Amino acid sequence: MRHLMNPLDFTVEELNQLFDLANDIEKNPEKYAHICAGKKLATCFYEPSTRTRLSFETAMYNLGGTVLGFSDAASSSASKGESVSDTIRIISCYADICAMRHPKEGAPMVAAGKSRIPVINAGDGGHQHPTQTLTDLLTIRSLKGRLSDFTIGLCGDLKFGRTVHSLINALARYENIRFVFISPPELKVPDYITEMLKEKGIAYEEVIRLEDCIAKLDLLYMTRVQRERFFNEEDYVRLKDFYILDKSKMNLAGKDMLVLHPLPRVNEISVEVDTDERAAYFKQVQYGVYVRMALILTLLELAC
Ligand code: CP
Repeated sequence: MRHLMNPLDFTVEELNQLFDLANDIEKNPEKYAHICAGKKLATCFYEPSTRTRLSFETAMYNLGGTVLGFSDAASSSASKGESVSDTIRIISCYADICAMRHPKEGAPMVAAGKSRIPVINAGDGGHQHPTQTLTDLLTIRSLKGRLSDFTIGLCGDLKFGRTVHSLINALARYENIRFVFISPPELKVPDYITEMLKEKGIAYEEVIRLEDCIAKLDLLYMTRVQRERFFNEEDYVRLKDFYILDKSKMNLAGKDMLVLHPLPRVNEISVEVDTDERAAYFKQVQYGVYVRMALILTLLELAC
């Protein structure tokens, strides 16, 4: 039995197989419409979500399976003090696979240790968000045709942003990737990530102004400043609108640069950018369904 805690749990070859399967699902959805008949997905979300929970549920329904779960810790027995370890033992009696989001880093890993069914980390605190990374990689591979030879800018909250941490780890395994980290000093990418890049000899630079680097980017990954990760409101208010990607900044970018965002966005991408051909963040949401379908099939060992 296999879990997914971190994008690095899959080798590059396994990821290629997963993305090939996701692309086949996109082209031939009818081929997969009943493959999970009789199977159940549990979505155990202790933190709010729109995309991740609903795309997992859509993925399972698209595969002919069914879904159960909770979307709020307050409506589960966690509110009475039940541990994650006990909860997953219970869920193992009801479902065949579980996607879990939790505000505490490592909680899905603790659950996986006690589970009789595959557990997928659907985001744990500021740590990892592997299925968002699978979504990001599939989007890039599908729209650009490759996962190597890019200069990628990651902009916004690089300190607390789990999507950023997962994506850097995953992209660091591909050839000729150069990172540009764009953040205010308070939200810099953690040292353990820059240490990892140094050890691997991967090029990166840290800048404050998006305008200073946007022209050289092949990919721009925007992120939200996350109110829920701040210890005080004053710091959040000071930093929340530090970056706003608008038409004037897009005019400085290359004609093929893709703009990605895990969403939700607040103000960091102006709605006027949505109609720009380089805006890929809503396409990214659709790829998130295909890749989660491929992941469910792979972990349930139903992939053909
Ligand atoms: N991208 C993402 O994780 O979105 P949700 O928080 O809505 O699931």
